[in-house]
Amino acid sequence: MDYLKVTGRKNLKGSVKISGAKNAALPLLASTILSKNKINISNLPNVVDINTLLKLLGMLGSTYEKQDDILIIDSTTINQTKATYDIVKTMRASILVLGPLLARFGHCEVSLPGGCAIGQRPVDLHLKALEQMGALIEIKNGYIRATTKGPLLGTKIIFDKVTVTGTENIVMAAALAKGETTIINAAKEPEVVNLCEVLRDAGVQIDGIGTNELKIIGSNQELLDFQDFRIIPDRIEAGTYLCAGAITNSILKVENVIHSHLDAVLGKFEEMGYMIQKDDNSITILPANKILPVHIVTTEYPGFPTDMQAQFMAIATMAEGTSIIDEKLFENRFMHVAELVRMGADIALNGTVASITGTPKELLGTDVMATDLRASSALVLAGLVASGETNIHRIYHLDRGYDRLEVKLAELGAIICREKEGL
Ligand code: UD1
Repeated sequence: MDYLKVTGRKNLKGSVKISGAKNAALPLLASTILSKNKINISNLPNVVDINTLLKLLGMLGSTYEKQDDILIIDSTTINQTKATYDIVKTMRASILVLGPLLARFGHCEVSLPGGCAIGQRPVDLHLKALEQMGALIEIKNGYIRATTKGPLLGTKIIFDKVTVTGTENIVMAAALAKGETTIINAAKEPEVVNLCEVLRDAGVQIDGIGTNELKIIGSNQELLDFQDFRIIPDRIEAGTYLCAGAITNSILKVENVIHSHLDAVLGKFEEMGYMIQKDDNSITILPANKILPVHIVTTEYPGFPTDMQAQFMAIATMAEGTSIIDEKLFENRFMHVAELVRMGADIALNGTVASITGTPKELLGTDVMATDLRASSALVLAGLVASGETNIHRIYHLDRGYDRLEVKLAELGAIICREKEGL
C-alpha cells in the first residue's frame, strides 16, 4: 500500500491542467451500454474509479482500447447483465449500470452497494423510479434483481430528494423507454448536463437540460447512435487545486476549467479574502491579506458542493476567526475532522455543523489516515501548511478520484512524494 509524504510550509507557484471529471465520466461510460456503435471518448481522467467501471463493463462484455488520450469503447458486444458484489463493493457508482442494463435487456442484477464512510447512501430513489417505469424489483441475497416485461414505460417521476446518480440512472433508462418520462426535482449538476447532452447528440429528445425538470422521449428499446464525445473538466479537482493555492497563500492557476461550474466555490474564496482572476479557460487565485472565516452550507448544484467541504475545512484552520461548515447532504462526512484535530486544528462538531477556529501557522505534521476521497485531499492540503512532515496513509481513496495528485502538486513546487508502506 502507498502513502504520501508531504513536507509543509512551502509556497506553491505556477499552473496546473485539470483533468476530465470523474463524476461525469462514470455515467457517460455506463451510458455506452445504450449505444449501437463504437465510441471515441476524450478527456477521460486517469483515476482508479474509471478503471473500475471499465473493468465492470469489460466483465459485461464491452471491449475497449486506449489510443493516446482517446478511449475507444464498444459496448454493443455486452452479453452479461450481472454486476457482482466484488466489483460494486469497491465503487458505489457501479449502480449506474442498473438503469441502462435494464432498459436494454429487460433484466439485470446489480449488487446492492451498501453504506460507505460518508453515510448510509441508500439507492431507494433509483429503485422506486424504475418501479414507476414498470420494473419489477426484488432484493435478494444482497442483489437488486430487476426485470421488465417489454420496454420500460415513460412516466412522471418526482424525486423526493435531489439525487445525482439517481437522476443519471433514470435519464439513461428513460432514453430507451417507451414514451415520455418526466423527472421532477432532477439534479442539475454539470455532470448530469454532460450526460444529457451526449444522449441528446445520440438522437434522444431531452428538454429541460440543466433545469430541475427533465422531459425525455425514449427510443422504445432501439439502441442509440452515439457521437464521439468529450468529458467536461473536473470542477472538484479544480476547486481542490485552488484550495492548495489558498491554504499556502500562493498565486496558482488552474487551466482547462469552466468558470460557471465553480461559481459557488469561487464566491467562498472571495469571502475569505482571496482574489480570483478569470481568463478564457483558466482561473487564478491570488493571496489574501488576511484569511477571513467563512460560513458554508453544502447543498445541491448550483450551491456549494459537498465534495469541496473537507478542503475548505482545511483552509478554515488557517483563517483568523471561527468558520462554520454545515454539511446538509451526507450525515457522516466529517471523518477528516479527527485527523485535522490530530494535526492541531481547533474544530468542534455538533451534529452536521462544524465550527473551525483558525489557528494560523499551528498545524503540525504527523501521521494521518485518509477515510474517503475528499477527506483525503483535505489532509494533503493541511500537510502543505503544517510544520514538518505529514504522512497520509490509505491513499487508495485519493487514487480513486485524483489524477496523479502528487505529480501535479510537485510540479507546483510542493514537496510531496509517494512512498510504500513498511519500507
Ligand atoms: C454523487 C457524487 C458524489 C457527490 C454527491 C452529492 C457521483 C459518482 N458521485 O453521489 O461525489 O458527493 O453526488 O453531490 O456522481 N439519497 C437517498 N436515496 C437515494 C439516493 C440518494 O436517500 O436513492 C440521498 C443520499 O444519501 C444523500 C442525498 O440523497 O443524502 C444526495 O445523494 P446523491 O446525489 O444520490 O449522491 P450520489 O449520486 O451517490
